[in-house]
Amino acid sequence: MTNISGPLRYNQVARALHWIIAALILTNLTTGLLGDTFEELKIPVPSHVATGILILLLSLVRLGWRFNWRAPAYQPALSPWMGTVSWITHRAFYGLMIIMPLTGWIFVSASKYPISMYGLFLWPKLPLTKAMPIVGAAAEAHEILGYGFAALAALHIGAALYHTYVLKDHLLRRML
Ligand code: HEM
Ligand code: HEM
Repeated sequence: MTNISGPLRYNQVARALHWIIAALILTNLTTGLLGDTFEELKIPVPSHVATGILILLLSLVRLGWRFNWRAPAYQPALSPWMGTVSWITHRAFYGLMIIMPLTGWIFVSASKYPISMYGLFLWPKLPLTKAMPIVGAAAEAHEILGYGFAALAALHIGAALYHTYVLKDHLLRRML
């Protein structure tokens, strides 16, 4: 039997950032998707926008931090297909955590509304107008990637539950 040594959990900063950003993303996926369905409920778009920008800032910090360490080794090792799926999912998440807010920032910059950070201060708008092709493309991408993001989140959370309740391999503790 191979004896795997090293840390059992992600480091404290990684764990804190994971849960804060996860909560913010789940909030934004909910307000984004419900906002469309229940327009009469007036899900607050300004808070969706401010939370999205906050996700962008925290994700940049998280990504910068991520380059300084390696994830703890799996104990026990993951099966090869699970290892591949989680590798792809985690990288796709990091990409989406940057691209989703960027596309939002791009198309909201072309609107007449200011970007208010929870009423505390104004976030700068990019010098864009509605006529620019990148604005329409960003709006389209925001919607399509939003569905992809929600699907990946369901897969990721489903995997965590599967490990906890079916495989019972304590994988969740790596992030607690
Ligand atoms: C990770 C961060 C974000 C996530 C997960 C997210 C998710 C979503 C989702 C799922 C939708 C619904 C798409 C649809 O069905 O049309 C949406 C809509 C929207 N998002 Fe975001 N968003 C994020 C960041 C942002 C940012 C940073 C902004 C602006 C600065 C923004 C502005 C908007 C606006 C204005 C809508 C409504 C669009 C419409 O109804 O036409 N979002 N978002
Ligand atoms: C949509 C919200 C979430 C996002 C965007 C997200 C993103 C991520 C990312 C990017 C990683 C890889 C960390 C790294 O190696 O740097 C990760 C790991 C992990 N996440 Fe999440 N997460 C979310 C929600 C959750 C939830 C709700 C749970 C628990 C039910 C969870 C449990 C875990 C666990 C256990 C790991 C470690 C997996 C491993 O080491 O292979 N995540 N998450």
